[in-house]
Amino acid sequence: MADASVLSFLGDVTEHGPVISLAGARKTYKTGSIEYEALRGIDLTIDAGEYVAVIGPSGSGKSTIMNILGCLDTLTSGSYLLAGDNVEDLDETELAMVRNQRIGFVFQQFHLLPSLSAWRNVELPLVYAGVHRDERRGRAVAALERVGLGDRLDNKPGQLSGGQQQRVAVARALVTEPTLILADEPTGNLDSHSTEEVLGLFDELHDTGRTIVLITHEHDVAARSRRIVQVRDGLITAQEVAA
Ligand SMILES: Nc1ncnc2c1ncn2[C@@H]1O[C@H](COP(=O)(O)OP(=O)(O)OP(=O)(O)O)[C@@H](O)[C@H]1O
Ligand SMILES: [Mg+2]
Repeated sequence: MADASVLSFLGDVTEHGPVISLAGARKTYKTGSIEYEALRGIDLTIDAGEYVAVIGPSGSGKSTIMNILGCLDTLTSGSYLLAGDNVEDLDETELAMVRNQRIGFVFQQFHLLPSLSAWRNVELPLVYAGVHRDERRGRAVAALERVGLGDRLDNKPGQLSGGQQQRVAVARALVTEPTLILADEPTGNLDSHSTEEVLGLFDELHDTGRTIVLITHEHDVAARSRRIVQVRDGLITAQEVAA
């Protein structure tokens, strides 16, 4: 397991209160003298174990939300509590730890290292977390088995299909046992078969209690979640909970 002391500044989230709490969240981008308000006051609470999709047209602010939730960027105003901790109070080192250990990222472009085998890609977050090498391989293999790729451990990304590469990326997102899985258009580069593979995997992760935020502009992908949050022009315009 990851070093408990490293994680201790973020309490045991899964049992107390929401994983995500955004209040009055605003984000203004500045490009030279031009300002653009990408988020214009977002309130959003997501509890442990929820599977939420954020949907909206291009430019509506979805990736901006993802970057905020993933502690890759900060709000201009408003607050973001991650597992009860105000992200604004964390220093760079703590933020890096949160990104590494508390959040599992899945991106449209997979972001796998082409020269490394599947299991080496999956163990990387554990390398950064300082997990001993003896433990890393076992955990990477278990994560790959979890996504149905136990027979592809030594394949490099170029030897895998798009769907398989994305499953490697999901295994990498899971290997640290994060509090939150954040996926930005995870099926955006996949054909319908591979999309189904990845969404089936998310269903399973949800069934086993993971908290998932999936960002997409496709309605049929969003419909697989349990709650759809619709974003338009930097505001939440509707929410729909699955029956
Ligand atoms: N770094 C930046 N600097 C300036 N403007 C930005 C920056 N990032 C995003 N924006 C603007 O903020 C708005 C929201 O962008 P965002 O990437 O969040 O949209 P999105 O909903 O993810 O769109 P897409 O579906 O195309 O990925 C857009 O108008 C975009 O041009
Ligand atoms: Mg985007």
